[in-house]
Amino acid sequence: MSEPRKKITLPYLFKKVQDCEPITWLTCYDYPTAYLQEQAGIEMILVGDSLGMTMLGYDSTLPVTMEDMIRHSQAVRRGAPTAFLVGDMPYMSYQPSVETAIRNAGRFMAEAGCDAIKLEGGAAMADRIKGIVDAGIPAIGHLGLTPQSVSALGGFKVQGKDAHLAKKIIDDAKALEKAGAFMILLEMVPDRVCKLITERAENCIIMGLGSGPHAHGQLLIYHDMFGLFPKFKPKMAKVFGNAGEVILKGLKLYHDEVKANSFPARENWFIMPDGEFNGLEKLLKSKSTAKRK
Ligand code: KIV
Repeated sequence: MSEPRKKITLPYLFKKVQDCEPITWLTCYDYPTAYLQEQAGIEMILVGDSLGMTMLGYDSTLPVTMEDMIRHSQAVRRGAPTAFLVGDMPYMSYQPSVETAIRNAGRFMAEAGCDAIKLEGGAAMADRIKGIVDAGIPAIGHLGLTPQSVSALGGFKVQGKDAHLAKKIIDDAKALEKAGAFMILLEMVPDRVCKLITERAENCIIMGLGSGPHAHGQLLIYHDMFGLFPKFKPKMAKVFGNAGEVILKGLKLYHDEVKANSFPARENWFIMPDGEFNGLEKLLKSKSTAKRK
């Protein structure tokens, strides 16, 4: 039997970068999926506020609350005890002030056993990152397509295709690194911009989502990988297996078998031994005779 995996730590992640070994990172929101990701050896797990769309059916991530995030993070931690677990700070859990940001980041660590938090935004959020890091909490920045600002960004689209916006993303990455972020996620940024940021990072791990092959590791949204999100399929999301199709087929089969009386079959129910059943019939009979008297 193979040894159980050791807990994934910050030094482990930096060692992977040093060894030029890409880091694996996936979103996850529930216990059974966390269990599978842990078995598969996935190194980092993000309990993303994308759960608002993938799990709760909202049109955006904005309605997600801290209570939603803590409940799901706790379930994921129970399923994946050794993965490096990242709690995603939901809308308005860090934007109002540095103090709000520190308090809510602390909740992910204390109540859900997270290893780090992630928040969206560049230089404007550097003081939140600094406050959180100064409080002893590892922090990750998120640049490029930042879904909490989807309205200001004009939709779910690539960010930094033009030179000026690309320069701003590069400057933002430096500001976050200076503020103490140990990792930055680049979402839907052109591959060349991602490469420049990765090359310029000094003490910061760069992760990519739809940003090409040059980052130190890759993140994907679990529901996109397995055909589990019906509303749309982003280009960056390779489908690694169509679990949605398999499940739908199984559900239709169940429906048909119940209608046709072919489920449940003999092996799907429990029997009572003849002697006990005869005894039960006698008990019922004697009760009804007693009532008639
Ligand atoms: O919430 C999330 O899953 C995220 C990813 C889109 C990066 O932040």
